[in-house]
Amino acid sequence: MADTWFETVAAAQERAKRRLPKPVYSALLAASEKGVTVSDNVDAFAELGFAPHVIGATEKRDLATTVMGQEISLPVLISPTGVQAVHPEGETAVARAAAARGTAMGLSSFASKPIEEVIAANPKLFFQVYWLGGRDAIAARVERARAAGAVGLIVTTDWSFSHGRDWGSPKIPEQMDLRTTVRMLPTGLTRPSWMWQWGKTFRPPNLRVPNQAARGEAGPPFFHAYGEWMGTPPPTWEDIAWLRELWGGPFMLKGVMRVDDAKRAVDAGVSAISVSNHGGNNLDGTPASIRALPAIADAVGDQIEVLLDGGIRRGSDVVKAVALGARAVMIGRAYLWGLAANGQAGVENVLDVLRGGIDSALMGLGRASVHDLGADDILVPPGFARPLGVPAGSDA
Ligand SMILES: Cc1cc2nc3c(=O)[nH]c(=O)nc-3n(C[C@H](O)[C@H](O)[C@H](O)COP(=O)(O)O)c2cc1C
Repeated sequence: MADTWFETVAAAQERAKRRLPKPVYSALLAASEKGVTVSDNVDAFAELGFAPHVIGATEKRDLATTVMGQEISLPVLISPTGVQAVHPEGETAVARAAAARGTAMGLSSFASKPIEEVIAANPKLFFQVYWLGGRDAIAARVERARAAGAVGLIVTTDWSFSHGRDWGSPKIPEQMDLRTTVRMLPTGLTRPSWMWQWGKTFRPPNLRVPNQAARGEAGPPFFHAYGEWMGTPPPTWEDIAWLRELWGGPFMLKGVMRVDDAKRAVDAGVSAISVSNHGGNNLDGTPASIRALPAIADAVGDQIEVLLDGGIRRGSDVVKAVALGARAVMIGRAYLWGLAANGQAGVENVLDVLRGGIDSALMGLGRASVHDLGADDILVPPGFARPLGVPAGSDA
């Protein structure tokens, strides 16, 4: 049997690239405009250094923590993404992998599998909503998630419908009907193992979003839901406070990049934020999320849980983020590449790679636990941070 194990996230990405048809792989790369933000998300981590100890390592290191009331075995969660055509088992395979490795998962409202099926695979599930369709429609979606057993809500509001990419966007069909399937056959045939994976299911990728509809319904096609989202007036802070009140449980606002917004999120009653620029898929030119993290963690880290997502490719990146004030991080592309490379086992592999990297960084730093990490462990070069939403001349 072929050796399917990979030792780095970069190797998973390489396998995903070889395995997926070009449009599907490009859809995972995503990003917007010139790709300034997506590159900075990754490159910024390489600017940060470590301050290792020569003596002081403990025999075992503790990686466990909690996020929004859930115990997780490492400070890494699955960030919500829509993964329609990557793998037939989609989010259910991701959920099984996260459960097997002891962590929680955010499920996108644009996911390809119904929440009830995904939650059966991993009960540590946070449902993610976009501001789509107005209060009544959002309330119905959230109540379905509550009935299914979701243990937290993630609200993502950082999206500005930027559609151009200098390197070209993939052509994604509205629906995979017979005509489209035949038309796309030549592209699929360039990736026979991916084709075979889908062929075995006797069904082409389902480009619908079942969690946008009532339980048991197929849900609208992805692009119909997207169109409705474009036509929905964006939320206000009052809307966020309303939704938090309606949900009543653990509640994360994802996409915060500014200190003033983080403070308003606290006022709106959120329990957590993710410092995030949507993985560089939103407003290009936004700095890397890790550059915005320290000021936000300083300002609100003692009141709410501060997470980070964007650019995590190594365990050492996780350690850098935690040392600069994140309680945990969420990953996007890293697990999508694992899923593409080897299904559930590939996502487990990615989580194992990150766990191994966190553990060895802790050992090198002489820290017994992720909770012992601090600014002293990290070398932050002058000019690295970008405190956003802070009045000029103030500390935060
Ligand atoms: C293909 C793709 C789809 C995504 N879909 C969603 C989504 O449906 N909801 C959401 O909140 N974020 C979505 N995101 C953003 C991720 O949750 C996360 O913020 C981002 O991927 C983190 O950056 P990273 O990919 O560098 O880890 C998506 C990202 C990608 C790459």
